[in-house]
Amino acid sequence: MSKNLPLGDMSLETFLSQYWQKKPLVIRNAIDNFEPFVEADELAGLACEEEVESRLIVQDNQNNQWSMQHGPLKEEDFSELPKSHWTLLVQAVDHWHPAANDFLKQFDFIPQWRIDDLMISYASQGGGVGPHYDNYDVFLLQATGQREWHYGGLYDEYSPRADNEQLMLLEQFEAEHSVVLNPGDMLYLPPKVGHDGIALTDDCTTYSVGFRAPSHSEILLNFSDFVAHDLSNELRYQDKDLKAQSNSAFMDSKTITDVKDILQSYINQPGLIEQWFGCYMTEHKYHEQQQEFHLENTIAEITEAIEQASSLSKIPGTRLAYQQANPDTDILFFINGMCCKIAPEQQDFVELLTANDQIDADQITHSQERVKMMANLIKIGAYEIL
Ligand code: SIN
Ligand code: CO
Repeated sequence: MSKNLPLGDMSLETFLSQYWQKKPLVIRNAIDNFEPFVEADELAGLACEEEVESRLIVQDNQNNQWSMQHGPLKEEDFSELPKSHWTLLVQAVDHWHPAANDFLKQFDFIPQWRIDDLMISYASQGGGVGPHYDNYDVFLLQATGQREWHYGGLYDEYSPRADNEQLMLLEQFEAEHSVVLNPGDMLYLPPKVGHDGIALTDDCTTYSVGFRAPSHSEILLNFSDFVAHDLSNELRYQDKDLKAQSNSAFMDSKTITDVKDILQSYINQPGLIEQWFGCYMTEHKYHEQQQEFHLENTIAEITEAIEQASSLSKIPGTRLAYQQANPDTDILFFINGMCCKIAPEQQDFVELLTANDQIDADQITHSQERVKMMANLIKIGAYEIL
């Protein structure tokens, strides 16, 4: 890997072995010649859009009270803001802003299916979201202005909360470290590390790269749902070898073993977890919105358009991953929660798709197989013709 990583002078090996999921790290000048790419007005505009997820948090500093409003916001919401102590947060800016999408690519030294989105916050002086912890890793890059971060110490669901259910603020947060970040500096925090970022200036913009880390509960629920979806209602618990028992309320260990066997048979079913996990981790962030997408054009029409095209582009927010058990076995290619099998000879194509957002049409049009695949990717809203 020869690209410049947003880790300052630190090597990827050092970061992964000593910090990732282990301990916080402040990286001065994490990104060479960093240039912010979203203006405050643009961010406010995004927060007014129906499909964009956003929050506006205002702190009443005198009474230590917080209020949160979810988007879509209206222009009046901004004109009524106090002079200081507020923050606007916009989620998944990478879905809507090409430069934000490019920016996020710099973080794919962590598997891209682990990355969730780029959230951008804009705060007035004194603004912040209060002391809290997150259940996932986060890179917090200072884009404009200055922010003072207080961080350190591990917290969990049992840590006492301040009286504000919406924000889940920590009641007793005693930071172990404090640092002032200037544009281009970045703070990495592993899951559960307490933090509180307070804007020192009026134009404090922070870019935060968040990750996906499904809870065990989500893993179990989602896997069960995936498996159960296709099972016949007639596959039932059986006890053909039932023996007479003295107390009819008794549940013997054989019964429990039978139930465990049912569960294990799905866990051990060849390929099932592989397929489910690929689909699950590539599910679109706005799954419902994305599922409604259906291009009207036929595959034949799309194919013709590909043949005329100069380049093809991945639609921002599209999530891809692939698995291949052995070099000579089929590749499982996952796109926004869907799975398709691809012949091992197409490995170059899968690598081309997963490593680049934009590809020249002539990297596709020489192969019927590639054109067919691309037509399907366009049909499901993962790619577009430029
Ligand atoms: C922020 O950008 O203001 C908050 C980000 C965070 O604390 O996770
Ligand atoms: Co946080």
